[in-house]
Amino acid sequence: MREKLVVLACVWFVLYGSCLGRFVVEKNSLKVTSPDSLKDVYECAIGNFGVPEYGGTMVGSVYYPKSNQKACKSFEDVDVSLKKKPGGIPIFLLADRGECYFTLKAWNAQNGGAAAILVADDRVEPLITMDNPEEEDARADYLQNITIPSALITKELGDKIKKELSKGGMVNINLDWTEALPHPDERVEYELWTNSNDECGPKCDRQLDFIRSFKGAAQILEQKGYTQFAPHYITWYCPEAFTLSKQCKSQCINHGRYCAPDPEEDFSKGYDGKDVVVQNLRQACFFKVANESGKPWQWWDYVTDFSIRCPMKEKKYTKECADQVIKSLGVDIKKIDECIGDTEADVDNPILKAEQESQIGKGSRGDVTILPTLVVNNRQYRGKLDKGAVLKAICAGFEETTEPDICLSRDMQTNECLENNGGCWQDKAANITACRDTFRGRVCECPIVQGVKFSGDGYTHCEASGALRCEINNGGCWKGTKDGRTYSACIDDHTKGCKCPPGFKGDGVNSCEDIDECKDKLACQCPECKCKNTWGSYECSCSGNLLYMHEHDTCISKATSTEYSWSFVWVIILGLAVSGVAGYALYKYRIRRYMDSEIRAIMAQYMPLDNQGEEPDHMHHVQGPHVQGPHVHNV
Ligand SMILES: *[C@@H]1O[C@H](CO)[C@@H](O)[C@H](O)[C@H]1NC(C)=O
Ligand SMILES: *[C@@H]1O[C@H](CO)[C@@H](O)[C@H](O)[C@H]1NC(C)=O
Ligand SMILES: *[C@@H]1O[C@H](CO)[C@@H](O)[C@H](O)[C@H]1NC(C)=O
Repeated sequence: MREKLVVLACVWFVLYGSCLGRFVVEKNSLKVTSPDSLKDVYECAIGNFGVPEYGGTMVGSVYYPKSNQKACKSFEDVDVSLKKKPGGIPIFLLADRGECYFTLKAWNAQNGGAAAILVADDRVEPLITMDNPEEEDARADYLQNITIPSALITKELGDKIKKELSKGGMVNINLDWTEALPHPDERVEYELWTNSNDECGPKCDRQLDFIRSFKGAAQILEQKGYTQFAPHYITWYCPEAFTLSKQCKSQCINHGRYCAPDPEEDFSKGYDGKDVVVQNLRQACFFKVANESGKPWQWWDYVTDFSIRCPMKEKKYTKECADQVIKSLGVDIKKIDECIGDTEADVDNPILKAEQESQIGKGSRGDVTILPTLVVNNRQYRGKLDKGAVLKAICAGFEETTEPDICLSRDMQTNECLENNGGCWQDKAANITACRDTFRGRVCECPIVQGVKFSGDGYTHCEASGALRCEINNGGCWKGTKDGRTYSACIDDHTKGCKCPPGFKGDGVNSCEDIDECKDKLACQCPECKCKNTWGSYECSCSGNLLYMHEHDTCISKATSTEYSWSFVWVIILGLAVSGVAGYALYKYRIRRYMDSEIRAIMAQYMPLDNQGEEPDHMHHVQGPHVQGPHVHNV
């Protein structure tokens, strides 16, 4: 019951602007890099417009104007330009809260040439989310054109910065969005909290524009398994005492269980709230059926086609029109009708029930109170709903190096490996580098080239390791050929390093030099021996009827040589006998071990298992305290 009340309260928020739920303000970090007295990391709240640089950072110098400090007027006719001078540092405009919409301040800052806007709160309070104006006030056709990032800072920090600036100091800031979204693994989960209503003015238009423009990217990401998307729909329910009222009947289905506000806020004309609920339910069911058939991305086609073919304006916002769209997409209408069920019946609908339950924020997400809302990796996205901006946020949700190619394209980010090889190790001659461009920057990671793994710190050195390592660039080792013979300092069974082969000396990397065994008196020194050096080896011959024994570096008569061989044979026979006995002993031992485990397994069937009987501990999640009061404002 408590849960239901929160849902209801949040609906009133959507309608009337107040909510008792848990609203999470999405923050990023703001680092003051100078002056020393202010050096620290501060929190700031990402505004719900403009383009936050998810996954990136931005450096700038703060400018606080002498007049127009609330930035409600244009900066264009003021002498001082906020534009970055060539070679200069970008300007972050500091503006005071109040008097006009946050969005207007950002628009003025952008037109003045600022790279970002910092709004200083005018009262001491926890950070809030700066939002767009409500639809009635959305004359503002500039909203979609705001591209600079915005951040709200506390009054305290604002005052400190102003004080420093008034002393003639310079305040430099690094805005950092790299950790604004969790990025735990190679798949991004995201949700769009949306609505099939297409008659709510600019807000609905922007939502549809977004869905249409983002469709292509969304479908590719989903098909390739990079993302898992789910659409969501907000509904509310009628308090029991009112289920029979005219309002509830026109706005709700399933006896007051699931309601939506009337599109025109007029019960007597046009479509009713319950028509919207039914179409929302149809979209949710479409997603469920498409997902079950392994093609969740068809939802984007359905919603786009439905908005084009079945708009309210043309009075086509109906089941018949929806069914035509479903049919043309080849999805089973019967399954969708089954999922929708009887909307007049006094029963729960499992889909909408689950939707109501998921409206309540879990973990880092907080309650969804603004429509439309995008949630990426269980965090609410802030910024404008625009293809490029949203793609940036999704790209920031991948674990580094697992991003899809679309995130690494030139217009999404810069390739940090192009400059100075990103400061990573490289072997220019062999065209091998440890630099890997990523969405957030770059990583220095020893590569795998043609199946050969390189290992090392990635910054100063990497070397090939494992089998086949000599295949690539000879493992980075010396290699030489002379007189038809080739010697290499790379040895396959060494896991790393280079070593000059026998007969050579040197570091094995740059050079190995032939050792003159004869001159250095290393071999072939017996009185009967005659020594001749060759590249990589030597030749030794014995005078008279003697034979040169290489391993003993001596000349022997042929007779000794035979005797020697015989003793060698005896050693081998003895060796074989010893290993035979040892092998038999091992065999006996293993038979016994096998019998033991067999008997143990049989006995275990009659013994109780000792890890049973523990209670699962799933019911003891502690809920954090709910933050009170509204946390979204537009002025
Ligand atoms: C916003 O951008 C669009 C397209 O780039 C342009 O047509 C429109 O005039 C701009 N609006 C404003 C208020 O600058
Ligand atoms: C979609 O289907 C997949 C696999 O069939 C499942 O893991 C996932 O939870 C489904 N998504 C939703 C939102 O039901
Ligand atoms: C180095 O390798 C990259 C990709 O592996 C290739 O695009 C580039 O052309 C190569 N450069 C040279 C000089 O071989």
